[in-house]
Amino acid sequence: MLISPALAAAINTQIGNELAASLQYHQIAAHFHDLHLLQLATLFHKQAAEEREHAEKLLKYVVDTGGGLRIPAVRQPVHSFPNAEAAVEAALSWELEVTGQIKGLMDIAASESDYLAQGFLQWFVDEQLEEVTKMQRLLGVIRMSGERNLLSVEAYLVHGS
Ligand code: FEO
Repeated sequence: MLISPALAAAINTQIGNELAASLQYHQIAAHFHDLHLLQLATLFHKQAAEEREHAEKLLKYVVDTGGGLRIPAVRQPVHSFPNAEAAVEAALSWELEVTGQIKGLMDIAASESDYLAQGFLQWFVDEQLEEVTKMQRLLGVIRMSGERNLLSVEAYLVHGS
């Protein structure tokens, strides 16, 4: 076995977190779809697909290292948001939380001198910079436009992002 039981358990937990994020982002996409804001909807559907890929990368790692795959129960997503700003705030807050979760995995790998896991997890560390930055920028643009002018955010996503 190329992974400790502690790290395998933590990665299994993270698989559930990533799947929960995927479902949450589909739900946020639906919020924008209902408002006919299709660029925002597409952005979140794509983000949902990325989260699923993150879960699959982790899943493959646990299987390949012999840690034993144990997919946990997945948290139910929040179904509605009062406005666009609240939906994107939730996404940013989620990404900051995931950044902390990935750091926790890296801390376990480092404490165990597990260099294989550290190499694997570095991709997730780098990915979180991209994910947090993406949501911070989007939130900034939504706050600038205001709820009544979300069509300008749609135009930004087509031309400016
Ligand atoms: Fe898988 Fe958006 O972090």
